[in-house]
Amino acid sequence: MAKRTNRKIVLVKRPQGEVTPDCLRLVEEPAPAPAEGEALVKNLYLSLDPTQQGWMKYDTYMPAIPIGDVVRSGGVGEVVESRSPLYTKGQVVSGLVGWQEYAIADGGGRRMQAIPAGVAPVDAVSVYGITGLTAYFGLLDVGKPKPGETVVVSGAAGATGSIVGQIAKIQGCRVVGIAGSEEKCRWLTGELGLDACVNYKTEDVGKALREACPQGIDVYFDNVGGEILDQVLLQINRGARIALCGAISTYTEEAPPPGPRNLMQLVIKHGHMEGFLVLDYVARFPEAIAGMTKWAADGRLRSRVDVVDGIENAPAAFRRLFTGGNIGKLLVRLG
Ligand SMILES: NC(=O)c1ccc[n+]([C@@H]2O[C@H](COP(=O)([O-])OP(=O)(O)OC[C@H]3O[C@@H](n4cnc5c(N)ncnc54)[C@H](OP(=O)(O)O)[C@@H]3O)[C@@H](O)[C@H]2O)c1
Repeated sequence: MAKRTNRKIVLVKRPQGEVTPDCLRLVEEPAPAPAEGEALVKNLYLSLDPTQQGWMKYDTYMPAIPIGDVVRSGGVGEVVESRSPLYTKGQVVSGLVGWQEYAIADGGGRRMQAIPAGVAPVDAVSVYGITGLTAYFGLLDVGKPKPGETVVVSGAAGATGSIVGQIAKIQGCRVVGIAGSEEKCRWLTGELGLDACVNYKTEDVGKALREACPQGIDVYFDNVGGEILDQVLLQINRGARIALCGAISTYTEEAPPPGPRNLMQLVIKHGHMEGFLVLDYVARFPEAIAGMTKWAADGRLRSRVDVVDGIENAPAAFRRLFTGGNIGKLLVRLG
């Protein structure tokens, strides 16, 4: 058999602020041979996630990626060789495959999961992957929306936000998205059926939210933090729930950003603000996937992916997450 070559992106320097090109290097080497108990996986799609910025910089809910290691990332691939009873040749699996063309799966720290029956590989790393599951649990378990309530979601045209907005509509809520372009807002209020959208780059967010949420805000799904969170706090209703999913507006800051200025609103309005990690819900992933596949089959839940081809393009594509250059789930497809 011809020798397989593995191209991978390794971390060579910790980023200061943005992940600049000198932080990463494309390396070419022979693909690893699986040892007893291991399988070789040929990656099909690699996930690009804002959280990788933190993984490259410091310890978070996971240890920092060691310098010289492949960039840690989620993804999906096909087993091409197996010396493990856990994997069979031809099986499609997902897990922390890394930004590389081939990965090793085992039964320990590099355990991968077979993707659910009937789920396409691309859906396993988008709507039924980490971002879709984050939307499902963050909105339903933390946000607890009730029919007729007003839900606001920031990062609304992104991987997580676009699923949040649709699930909130399915729950019978008035849904207002916040996004960074007219094209994104048109997609959200058109194809996805949101009730209104605020373009935070061109509009006065406070004023636009007051107009879009005449009954106030009951649930805020926060993907971005910063000034937008402060503006939302000023408009929450009594008993509002704020689901803190992420704070992408702060991820490239070197110094800790100033805290929210309007937290007293939580006191005045008996509000509740709670952070969560999707990893807390692993045991309930099958329940979420079953629910979301039903909505997708009914035409009520759509998934959009933004696909870039070639491992060599992963670093430049990654920066698009921070400039708003993606619509839906950003992925790298490997040949
Ligand atoms: N808690 C968890 O378990 C968990 C799991 C997954 C993801 N997350 C978090 O969820 C959030 C969304 O992640 P994702 O993977 O779905 O990414 P994404 O929304 O697909 O992409 C990121 C989006 O953030 C927006 N953005 C970038 N900089 C911004 C800024 N300064 N202000 C406002 N918006 C900004 C951009 O859209 P615009 O054009 O609208 O600016 C961009 O498209 C992130 O904060 C991430 O860390 C949390």
